[in-house]
Amino acid sequence: MAVELAEITADNLGEVYDLAVGPGQNEFVASNPWSLAQAYAERKIAWPRAIVADGTVVGFIMLQFDPDDDDGRPYQLWRLMIAAEHQGKGYGRAALALGVEECRRRNATELFTSWVPGDGGPEGFYLGLGFEPTGEWDDDEKVARLAL
Ligand SMILES: CC(C)(COP(=O)(O)OP(=O)(O)OC[C@H]1O[C@@H](n2cnc3c(N)ncnc32)[C@H](O)[C@@H]1OP(=O)(O)O)[C@@H](O)C(=O)NCCC(=O)NCCS
Repeated sequence: MAVELAEITADNLGEVYDLAVGPGQNEFVASNPWSLAQAYAERKIAWPRAIVADGTVVGFIMLQFDPDDDDGRPYQLWRLMIAAEHQGKGYGRAALALGVEECRRRNATELFTSWVPGDGGPEGFYLGLGFEPTGEWDDDEKVARLAL
């Protein structure tokens, strides 16, 4: 399995736009059209990438790199989704590892994320990969930190 993170280009934009999560998972992640609009609006601090496995676009990841972050969390995982038909094959884990590599290249020592708790949600995925809840909440989302 060869997984890479690719820049969003005119060539892969349509594929990223069309990716969808499974039934019941929409409440846990924004749609890709919304995320792509956010990536544009916040382009100074957003790092959006297509997740490509063996040449196929299977998901989307977006990190934040913002030294002036209001909450003192410069490195954040804003978005991660794997299309329903490609879940459970290790792509989410591989994409996160590549995101972590990018953070390390930028001298990060910690990466933050947050998620909505609930059945069918990603909590177990993030805990399994080493994120630890900080005890803080961002609206209805539990904040967690991964030490790098
Ligand atoms: C969460 C998500 C990104 C995981 O991606 P994935 O490619 O299916 O996950 P992987 O195959 O890489 O799984 C890695 C490990 O996490 C586990 N895992 C995956 N999803 C899980 C979940 N929802 N709950 C608990 N464990 C989970 C896998 O069993 C695997 O564990 P193992 O190594 O012990 O076998 C994907 O299911 C998804 O896009 N969900 C909908 C959108 C979402 O909730 N995104 C997060 C927003 S904050």
